[in-house]
Amino acid sequence: SPSDPDLVARARAAKEKLGDRVFVLGHHYQRDEVIQFADVTGDSFKLARQAAARPDAEYIVFCGVHFMAESADILTSDAQQVVLPDLAAGCSMADMATAEQVAECWDVLTEAGAAEGTVPVSYMNSSADIKAFTGRHGGTICTSSNAKRALEWAFGEGRRVLFLPDQHLGRNTAVRDLGMTLEDCVVYNPHKPHGGLTPRQLRDARMILWRGHCSVHGRFSLDSVNEVRERIPGVTVLVHPECKHEVVSAADQVGSTEYIIKTLEAAPPGSKWAVGTELNLVKRLAGRFAADGKEIVFLDRTVCFCSTMNRIDLPHLVWALESLAGGTVVNRIQVDAETERYAKLALERMLALP
Ligand code: 13P
Ligand code: SF4
Repeated sequence: SPSDPDLVARARAAKEKLGDRVFVLGHHYQRDEVIQFADVTGDSFKLARQAAARPDAEYIVFCGVHFMAESADILTSDAQQVVLPDLAAGCSMADMATAEQVAECWDVLTEAGAAEGTVPVSYMNSSADIKAFTGRHGGTICTSSNAKRALEWAFGEGRRVLFLPDQHLGRNTAVRDLGMTLEDCVVYNPHKPHGGLTPRQLRDARMILWRGHCSVHGRFSLDSVNEVRERIPGVTVLVHPECKHEVVSAADQVGSTEYIIKTLEAAPPGSKWAVGTELNLVKRLAGRFAADGKEIVFLDRTVCFCSTMNRIDLPHLVWALESLAGGTVVNRIQVDAETERYAKLALERMLALP
C-alpha cells in the first residue's frame, strides 16, 4: 500500500544515498505520500524557476505531470537528467492542442489575413511542441500566476492574441484583468473546419481562445458556488483561474495554487473558505489549517482528484529513486534539441516578464 512504512523507509534511504545528486520537485497537486519527499513544492511557475536552481544536481525527479518535466528539461543543462516517475502522468488539457492542430490553425489564420499581428500566448500546460510553436512565432508562455502580465506584454507586441490551450484561463484573464469583453473573445475549435470561425471573425477578434479546458477545474459549476454560500454563511470562495468564467465571476478570489496557499496562510482564525482546485491540495490545506480554526471545504464534493497528477504515487517514486541510486536512469524526459531551442525562447520570454 502507498502508506506502507517500508516504502517510506525505502524512499528515504534511496534519497539519502543520492544526496545532492538528486533534486525532487513536487507540484502542489501531488499526493501527501509523495509531497513529503519533495525538496521544493510549488505552482507551475515556481517549479519552472526552481528547476534551474540546482545546476549541480545530476537528476531532477519531477513529481508532477509530463509538460512540467519537459519544461524542466528545457530550462536545465543537457548534463542534467529529468525523470518523471510515471510516464502516464500527462495532462488532458495539454493533450487538447497537438502540434498538427496548432500548425493548421496558423495556416487558417494566415489564409484569413489574421496571422500578422497575432501573438501566441501559451499556457504552461502544453507540450514542448506547442511551446516551440509559440517561440517561433514571437510569443510567450504564461502560467496562472503571470497570465495578466503575459497578455499585457503580448498586446504590446501585436493587436491580437492566440491563447492556447486553456480557453478559461485566457477568457478569465482577458475579461477580469484586461477589461476586455466576452465579445472580444472568439473560440477556435480544432475539430471544425477553419476552427468554426469565418475569416472576418478571425480578423476582428482580439483574443482567439483555443477550445481546450481542464477536465478537473471545468467541473466546478455556478451551482456549486451558490450552494456553498447557502450552506456556509460568510464563506469566502477561492478558485483557480482554470475554472469556467461563470464560476470565476461568482467567486470572491481567484489565483494560482501558490496564491491559494498564501491567501489561506494569511487568513484570520475563524474564517471560512470554499476552495475550487485539485482535491489533494484542498485536503492538505484543510488539515493543515484546521488547528488554527480556519474552516476550509472543497467547493464541490462531486469533483475528484486530477487522475494524472495522482499517477505519481509512492511506489513509482520509490522505483525511480532506487533505480537512480542503483545507477539506472528510468523514465527520462528529454526534449529534442530543435524543439528545445524554440520552446526555450518562449519560456525565457515568460521568465523575463516584468
Ligand atoms: P498552477 O500550479 O500554476 O496554479 O497550475 C495548476 C495546474 O493545473 C497545473 O496543472
Ligand atoms: Fe492538467 Fe487539469 Fe490535471 Fe492540471 S489539474 S494537470 S490542468 S488535467
